[in-house]
Amino acid sequence: MRSLLITNIGELVTGNPAWGEGPLGIRRNAALVVDDRRVEWIGRAVDAPAADARVDAGGAAVLPGFVDSHAHLVFAGDRAAEFAARMAGQPYTGGGIRTTVGATRAATDEQLRTTVARLRGEALRQGTTTIEIKSGYGLTVADEARSLRVAREFTAETTFLGAHVVPAEYADRTDDYVSLVCGPMLSAARSAGARWIDVFCERGAFDADHSRAILTVGADAGLGVRIHANQLTEGPGVRLAVELNAASADHCTHLSRADIDALAGSSTVATLLPGAEFSTRSPYPPARALLDAGATVALATDCNPGSSYTTSMPFCIALAVREMAMTPAEAVLAATRGGAAALRRDDIGHLTVGARADLVVLDAPSHLHLAYRPGVPLTTTVVLNGELV
Ligand code: NIG
Ligand code: FE
Repeated sequence: MRSLLITNIGELVTGNPAWGEGPLGIRRNAALVVDDRRVEWIGRAVDAPAADARVDAGGAAVLPGFVDSHAHLVFAGDRAAEFAARMAGQPYTGGGIRTTVGATRAATDEQLRTTVARLRGEALRQGTTTIEIKSGYGLTVADEARSLRVAREFTAETTFLGAHVVPAEYADRTDDYVSLVCGPMLSAARSAGARWIDVFCERGAFDADHSRAILTVGADAGLGVRIHANQLTEGPGVRLAVELNAASADHCTHLSRADIDALAGSSTVATLLPGAEFSTRSPYPPARALLDAGATVALATDCNPGSSYTTSMPFCIALAVREMAMTPAEAVLAATRGGAAALRRDDIGHLTVGARADLVVLDAPSHLHLAYRPGVPLTTTVVLNGELV
């Protein structure tokens, strides 16, 4: 494979304090060489070696590619009217999930694939180099399996979310649906290449006992555990995530002091999804309290047609800074290293020698511009797994 030199980097965010200044490990007037899909060399621009190809960053900032550790891209249909109703005062309850389930079941494989490709492309153009993709809008054995097969065409980080809600045909038969999820649906999800299992642990979805049962059988089958926790209410999800040593507790919107302390004392990442609070007009999660307590925080989009229809990690960074009192450095770390931690990956989310060569070049002199210039397409160049996109 051809080597690639990126030089005249005004601000190189390595993402590792041991490799530069401050929490982001920043190096100035830097250069970086990519070879064999890895970062091979980092140093001063004046010392840059020759390579097969060369990109002049012209003094711009270079960051690790964003790691979006929470997205629901396999769906059909549109819920813009539900969004408009919310903006006119209706609350978000999660009830619209069943609308999307109906549309998804009716869609062809090719329609689902087209939607995932469109959204994955959108995310990539904004600097997302790793994305997790969940099932959860099929909710039959066949529809969950095909959702995961389609997701697997786009990412290795696929998540089985058969326990998203109890589908209408199982109304008042939650135990039977949980048995289906734990049995034939889980087997089909494994055959379809799922790496993770997730549950929407919430009033109106799955309680702590059902969630524990599903996640435990998933973990026993070799899947990693993640939970939609404490999104709408201060429920048991976060405590369950810590109890099960889940990789991530996602949403964390309504947390008690005990939840914050439990996350801080655990290896479970608190994944915050401010696009959901934006689009459901809800209070933002207590990011400051989590960070001050020492919890590992990730930022992700939660891209889905109901609660958060955005693929933009820069938008989430801007929300985290403006609405959640995170510093720009904390937000960038959460969108890169934090997301990697939420996927239990150490090869991505940072730019140090040996890391996977996933990076973005911004049309800006520093990472501060991601929050300072909200809504502006600042990503000019993306390198994905060593290749210019
Ligand atoms: O993460 N909370 C559960 N699932 C999604 C929303 C799904 C939907 O409304 O379609 C979420 O917000
Ligand atoms: Fe979600």
